[in-house]
This record gives sequence, structure tokens and C-alpha cells, in this order.
Amino acid sequence: MALVIDGKATSQAIKDELKLEVARLSEAGKPVPCLAVVLVGEDPASKVYVKNKKNACAYIGIESRSIELPDQTSEETLLGIIDELNADPSVNGILVQLPLPLHIDEDRVIERISPDKDVDGFNPLNAGRLFTGRPGFVSCTPAGIVELLKRHNIEIAGKHCVVVGRSNIVGKPMALLMLRENATVTVCHSKTVNLKEITSQADILICAIGKPRFFTADYVKEGAVVVDVGIHRMEDGKLCGDVRYDEVEPKCSAITPVPGGVGPMTIAMLMKNCVEAV
Ligand code: GUN
Repeated sequence: MALVIDGKATSQAIKDELKLEVARLSEAGKPVPCLAVVLVGEDPASKVYVKNKKNACAYIGIESRSIELPDQTSEETLLGIIDELNADPSVNGILVQLPLPLHIDEDRVIERISPDKDVDGFNPLNAGRLFTGRPGFVSCTPAGIVELLKRHNIEIAGKHCVVVGRSNIVGKPMALLMLRENATVTVCHSKTVNLKEITSQADILICAIGKPRFFTADYVKEGAVVVDVGIHRMEDGKLCGDVRYDEVEPKCSAITPVPGGVGPMTIAMLMKNCVEAV
């Protein structure tokens, strides 16, 4: 039987630790952290994500400031708002919810957020800091995965970690973080030839290919640790990941479920970044 890695409980534990830390900061006369959350348009999924982030802030005692803009907002207007938030000393963290409407250049927006307030860790300066091993904000999903493995006493150093996915938000920072933890890292993606042969050599397999139930048992080595980053809604309304949990779970030593695995860790790490931003 595999260890089922409980991301929900781990996320809750981190949020409780942060709540204590914010209370201590407050008692020491330090300002309460403040996160500005910018949402452009009416995307229902983005609205849910933003609501969850604001709820987490409220639980921990982080102030959240909501900036909701219409779909037609111009890039110049959005950049102007980011400039104001960058200059506002009462704002510690800035999060622009993605995706943005197609007429707005996401790269320009991300680059405009001050690296010191970039709690998502998406700004190229923070990506570069991770690349060169310097301290900086790290993208929350991969940071959450490392935290999840460490808190479940899963050894990373010396292990062969295969990351399937190469996005700027998950795959690439994930590979760099595992390298920082002294894993031997292989990065694969949708165009990799003989994917199965490579993934079945992994001690730790990070599945972020973005295809529902893609990874069958024959992609996984007996006794591997499997981390499922995917989240997809099936026709019956249920959620599933990139991994066929039912057939992979009996084969591995530990696995993250969907829902309740990696997902809740992303918000916990965002909150951690907000507290660190102060
Ligand atoms: N959209 C989907 N995931 C994320 C995230 O982690 N941060 C932001 N800003 N937008 C997202």
C-alpha cells in the first residue's frame, strides 16, 4: 500500500504556522502583510482561485486588497496599476491572476511586477535567481511539492527525479528545485521519444504533462514516489489528475491524490511568500 501524501493536511499545518508568525509580527509592532490580488475579466475558474487565495489570507491574518478590472482593460491601464502597487509601501505582495485576456501581453505584465513583491515567483529576475542558486521568490506549485516531500520524510538527495512538463510555472522551476536538493534530474515533455522508458527509471516522478489520466502503471517503477500536478474535470464532474491513480497507487511507495495533493500546497506556499515579503 502506498503512502497517500495528504496535501490538504500539510497545507493546513503550514497555514497554521504562518498564522502564528503573523500574530508574532503583529505583537512585535510590525505591519500586517498585505497582498494585492489583480483579476482582469470574468473567467469563472480564475474567480474561484482568487476567492480561495483571499480566504487563505483572511485565515492567516494577511490583509488582501482586491483589484477587479473589466475584460476590456487595456495593457497600459493594467501596467499603470502595477506601477502604483509597486510604489505603495503598504503592499508587500502583488499577484496578477493568469490567464489574462488575449489583448494583454502576459510577459510584459509579469516583468513589470517588482521582483521584491513578486510572490508568484514568475518575474524573470526571480526565475534567474533560482537558476543561479540565489535567494528569491520561487513559483508556488514546485516549491509546494518540495515542501510536501520533505514534510513526509521522502529523501530527494541522490534520487533520480523525472519531471514530465517544461512550463515556466511548474516544469522548469521544479527541475531546478530538485537539482538544488541534490537529485539527479531528467526533464521530459510531450515530444519526448520513449517517454515510458525514461519515466519507468524514476525514483521520484513528477507528472505535469497536462493530459487527464495519461500516466498508466507501466510508466511507473515499482516503489517510486509519484507526484501528480494535473487537475482536470471529467465529464461526470469529478476531478482527476495526469495519473491513473487507481492503477498506479498499488505500484508506488507514495503518491499525491487529486484532489487533495499538490493543489492545496500552491496556496500555502503563496501565503508563505507573502509573509516572507514583509
Ligand atoms: N493561474 C493559474 N495558476 C496561477 C498561479 O499560480 N498564479 C497566478 N498568478 N495565476 C495563476
